Amino acid sequence: MTMSRAPAVSVLVAALVLALDPIASNGSDSEAAPVAAGKGEGVTLRDLARGDHLLIGTAVDMAALASDATYKDRIATEFSSVTAENVMKWEAVEPQRGHPDYTLADQLVDFARQNDQQVRGHTLLWHNQLPAWLTSGVADGSITATDLREILREHIFELVGHFRGKVYQWDVANEVIDDSGNLRDTLWLQQLGPGYIADAFRWAHQADPRVKLYLNDYNVEGISAKSTAYVELIKQLRAERVPVDGMGIQGHLGVQYGFYPATAVAANMQRFLDLGLEVSVTEADVRMILPQDNAKLQAQAQGYSTLIMGCLLVKRCTSFTVWGYTDKYSWVPGFFSGQGAANLLDENFQAKPAYEQMRAVLMQKG
Ligand code: XIL
Repeated sequence: MTMSRAPAVSVLVAALVLALDPIASNGSDSEAAPVAAGKGEGVTLRDLARGDHLLIGTAVDMAALASDATYKDRIATEFSSVTAENVMKWEAVEPQRGHPDYTLADQLVDFARQNDQQVRGHTLLWHNQLPAWLTSGVADGSITATDLREILREHIFELVGHFRGKVYQWDVANEVIDDSGNLRDTLWLQQLGPGYIADAFRWAHQADPRVKLYLNDYNVEGISAKSTAYVELIKQLRAERVPVDGMGIQGHLGVQYGFYPATAVAANMQRFLDLGLEVSVTEADVRMILPQDNAKLQAQAQGYSTLIMGCLLVKRCTSFTVWGYTDKYSWVPGFFSGQGAANLLDENFQAKPAYEQMRAVLMQKG
């Protein structure tokens, strides 16, 4: 699949930024652009993005998929890509050592196939949601560093092998750099040293030579110490001929922090493109301090719009995934005390200004 866009489209999108981005146009950050009423009514995000070869994805909560028909139907129609919110993580696929369990992950892959959707793999290597047998084994010394490296190798071959040909991108290494720009101090770094990242990519490539292999992190939307550390890490990996294909920009934003304008998001993405990578927005959500109000919802719409416009402004932004699409099922209230309402639709699946803004951006550029 080619992902390039004609230059004429980029010009159009640049005009779009001026038209729709309140920061770029008038410096105000309080209001989202008005949405053209009626246009493209009933057309879904996945349809609107098709002309751009941009996949529009959502994280999927498998419990909700099984119990809530409205949730399920909307995923089937609105999105062209799905990511397992939890069921491909290590603790989910190997709760007991040596006994892989892909029941739920396979269900998601089947669901995607039925709905003509692609699947993003998330994630091979992370410091969270590891199985208890692994973390306790490392802590009590029954798993040595040598064992751990072999366990990681087997895990990657097993997981990537199981989904070979069924997943288009894998988050190989998730959140491996901290906010200061240093390699994150995790069990992996402590036990295996910095070479574990290159190893993981090489093993994943051997297990499925076609799938796109990603780094993935939060707080890397604009140019910062953290995103620059990724640029440097990727330069080093490429110099060592490590097969890294993509930079995943999670996009967990909050209205209380403000946003980089779309042009700044694009400028940051371009640094990764210049290194020969593609980019994707992988986990977009825009939380707020509750209670929600109209001003916060308008600001939220602007937050989503900076990410989708940033993506449209560069040539190889291949997918845009939201981390859940309805406030009915969201990780935010459980993780950020007093915050929530982070998604495109409300708890009753009604469109919020953010959803209308996403549609407006995708319609106007088309
Ligand atoms: C979150 C899930 O949404 C929650 O359900 C789970 O309890 C914890 O993990 N960055 C990531 C995701 O890469 O895997 C995280 O997902 C959110 C932050």
